[in-house]
Amino acid sequence: MSDDRLIRYNRDFLNNHNIKNDIDEYAPKFHIYPHKGLINDPNCIFYLNNNLYVFFQHHPANNLHGLKTMSLAKTNNLIDFDYHFMVNKPINDFESHGVYSGNAIVVNNKVISFYTGNQRDDNWIRTSSVIKAEYDLNKNEFVNKTKLFDQYEFKKYSEHFRDPFVFEYKNKFYMLLGSQTIENENGVILLFELNNDFNEYKLIKEIHVDDSLFRMIECPNIVFDNNDAYLIYCPQYKENKTFDNPDICVYSKVDINKLIDDKTFEYNIQSYEYVDYGLEYYAPQCFKINNDNYIIGWVGVPTNLKYLETKNGWVHMLSMIKKIEFKDNKMTLVSPDIYKNSFSNSKDQFVKYQQINLVNNKSIKLFDNDQLKLDIELKNNKLVINRICDYYPYDNKKVIDVNNNKVDIEIYIDNSIVEINIDKKYWYTSRIYFDKQIKVIESE
Ligand code: FRU
Repeated sequence: MSDDRLIRYNRDFLNNHNIKNDIDEYAPKFHIYPHKGLINDPNCIFYLNNNLYVFFQHHPANNLHGLKTMSLAKTNNLIDFDYHFMVNKPINDFESHGVYSGNAIVVNNKVISFYTGNQRDDNWIRTSSVIKAEYDLNKNEFVNKTKLFDQYEFKKYSEHFRDPFVFEYKNKFYMLLGSQTIENENGVILLFELNNDFNEYKLIKEIHVDDSLFRMIECPNIVFDNNDAYLIYCPQYKENKTFDNPDICVYSKVDINKLIDDKTFEYNIQSYEYVDYGLEYYAPQCFKINNDNYIIGWVGVPTNLKYLETKNGWVHMLSMIKKIEFKDNKMTLVSPDIYKNSFSNSKDQFVKYQQINLVNNKSIKLFDNDQLKLDIELKNNKLVINRICDYYPYDNKKVIDVNNNKVDIEIYIDNSIVEINIDKKYWYTSRIYFDKQIKVIESE
């Protein structure tokens, strides 16, 4: 094995539960973060007995994408978390190189999780399997893990075959899966029909977005607004013609009856919109709290970059937990009041909530004392947001066509993460660091 693989797939840490827990200079107050090592996708989330269980991809050994476990952050108020580290470890052959992403459903008070088993052989050839497990609420661990199937059963798809999302529709269960065709390497989302015992599965649809553009689609989710369905998914560009982050997170309204009943195997999505316009927002997961839909995203990037907290032995975090609402065929995300109240009342000098009305040709600038960190300008009905940052290899500038000459801006800062809501329609989530003093300056 190469040195890099030896570092990333070393298994020694699996027996060491001594995960550092002290608060450091970049740690957020109200967000889930790894404490040690790397965090990525939120996973297998469920709500039961007034508690929300948010699992996440976790590589506690170092700041690199490596051997993934799942850890848990449990909360009853969305902002205070009780952590249980490595509650799902890669112990079986079918998951030898990581327990990868998936989701969970609660059936008769029993938690059934579906996730991806990532296995590599000596030649580094990958087998990706869909694994079914139960979450044992007393032991706080994943038990009864069983392999359902892998990519080889469906000859058409490559090793990129992961991130199951199981959902119920009209008393039947279905599963979405992120995938890639072997021929032409097109990113697709697969839709399977499942039986009630989850041991029979039938592939019924191949969902395409834009074959010329995307090489893989990760982390598909579905949410319903009465009879309307929305897919949320993460396509990755084949060839990035811009300087933007090539891994994006979008949503599309889909025709659920066509997806499920129509006999045509292919379904083509015509258009999509960004879930968040920030520089780091990826692989979110949707879940229900009672009858409402919620979403939490990963604030990070799939490549290994030198975010500032890496010097303290950890990297990335998750976003605020937001409620999903629908209006005029669009999905909007709403930050629950607890965030605004907690941010406003916090005595921490690096936590801040501020609301500002911005008009054309005016700007808002975020400074760390005298150092400019973020410049937000409304120009010709477009919001131009520029981050000053030297380790991000993609374009730090984003333009959102707000189609308005004035916008209502809400800024939530939790130490090293900034989440900005624009006109209650768009979100911009990015990592920004403050060491000295947060200053929010509006132009005259
Ligand atoms: C997305 C992703 C998933 C995969 C997981 C592995 O960030 O690449 O497709 O299951 O991360 O940690």
